[in-house]
Amino acid sequence: MKAVAVFPSRREIRVVDHPEPKLTSPTEARMRVLEVGVCGTDREIAGFQYGTPPDGSDYLVIGHESLSEVVEVGAQVSKVKAGDLVVATVRRPCPHASCVACREGRQDFCYTGDYTERGIKRRHGFMTEFIVEEERYLNVVPRELREVGVLTEPLTIAEKSLEQLSMVQQRLPWACTGDAGKGPGRRCRAVVLGAGPVGILGAMALRLAGFEVTVYSRSAGHAEQNGIVSAIGARYIAAETHSVEELAAAAGPIDVVYEAVGASGVAFEVIKQLGPNGVFIFTGVPGRKGPIEVDTDDIMRDVVLNNQALLGSVNAPPHSFQAAIAHLGAFVSRWPDAVRSIITARFPIDQALEPLAAPGAGTKSVVQVSL
Ligand code: BGC
Ligand code: ZN
Repeated sequence: MKAVAVFPSRREIRVVDHPEPKLTSPTEARMRVLEVGVCGTDREIAGFQYGTPPDGSDYLVIGHESLSEVVEVGAQVSKVKAGDLVVATVRRPCPHASCVACREGRQDFCYTGDYTERGIKRRHGFMTEFIVEEERYLNVVPRELREVGVLTEPLTIAEKSLEQLSMVQQRLPWACTGDAGKGPGRRCRAVVLGAGPVGILGAMALRLAGFEVTVYSRSAGHAEQNGIVSAIGARYIAAETHSVEELAAAAGPIDVVYEAVGASGVAFEVIKQLGPNGVFIFTGVPGRKGPIEVDTDDIMRDVVLNNQALLGSVNAPPHSFQAAIAHLGAFVSRWPDAVRSIITARFPIDQALEPLAAPGAGTKSVVQVSL
C-alpha cells in the first residue's frame, strides 16, 4: 500500500510501497485512513531536522494528525466497531518500570524520554492507506464531525494546555474564567501568539471557556485568519503594525498567553507584557536560529513580583482527545463556517510532498488518503 516516507540518512522523502499491517493481537483494530493533517512538526521531519525511523527501518512513515475509519476489530475489542470514525493518540509509553508517568498511561509526561511517537519518533505514522492500533489508543469521533475530525489532534495541544492552566490557577482563591464551581470571579484575558491551526484552535477553546481573546500574529494581510478570529468574537492584532507594548495596551492586563508560534524572540518580548498572576504557556518547538538578546533581570523581576507562572506543554493524554472531540462539536454548532474554513487545502496522497515542503498561504493543509 502507499505511504509517505522520510529516509533521513539519504535525505529523501517520497511515496513508498509499505507492507499492509495486519491485526497481531485481539485488542487491536485495523483502520482505513481518511485524512492526515500536516503541521510544522511534519515539515521539520520532511526537512530532515527532526523525526526518527523505527529500529531496523531506514524510513519513517510520516503523519500524526489522523482521521480514519475502523474496518476490522480483534476478538476482544469493545470500544470501537467497524464503521466508526476514530482519531488515534500519538505518543506510546517508554519501556521503563521506573517511569511512573508511562506506567500510568500518561506518556505525555514521560520522565525518561524513551517514549515513541507515531509518525515522529521510532514508530510509523498515519500517512498511509491502512493502520493497526491498540483500541486503548483510539478515540471515537461522531459522524457529524467527518469534515473537521482531522483537527482533533492539533486541538488536543490546546486542551492539555488549558487543563494545566486551570490547575495552575487553582492557586487563586477566586474563580478564573473557565473554572467551574468556584462562584463569581474574574473574567480573564488571553493572548494567543500565532494564527496557525494550533493558535486558531486554541483561540476557539479559550473563547468557548469564556476568555476575552486577542490573537497576535505576524501578518496584517491574513484575511482568512482575520475572518475566523472575528467570527469567534476575538480580536486580531498584527505584529507587522503593532508592537508588543501596543498589544498589551489593547488587550489589558494579560492573564494568559497561549504561545503557538514556536518563535522565541516574540515569545520573550510578550512575556514582559504578562499581567499580575499571569500564566505563560509555551507550546511551540522553535528551530535553532542562534542566540538573541533578552533582559533576563527584567523578566525575572516581573515573574517574581507578579506571581507569574511559565509553563511548557507537549503532546496530550486520551482525556484531552475526548475533550477535543466534544469541543470540536461545540465549535461547529457555534461557528460552523469558521471551523470549516481552518482546512484550506486538501491534497491526494500522491501530492503529499507539496504541503510537506511549504505551509502554503492558508491555515491547515490536509492529505486526503481515501474518500
Ligand atoms: C505533536 C505532538 C508531539 C510533538 C513532539 C507535535 O507536533 O502534535 O503529539 O508530542 O509534536 O514530537
Ligand atoms: Zn502536529
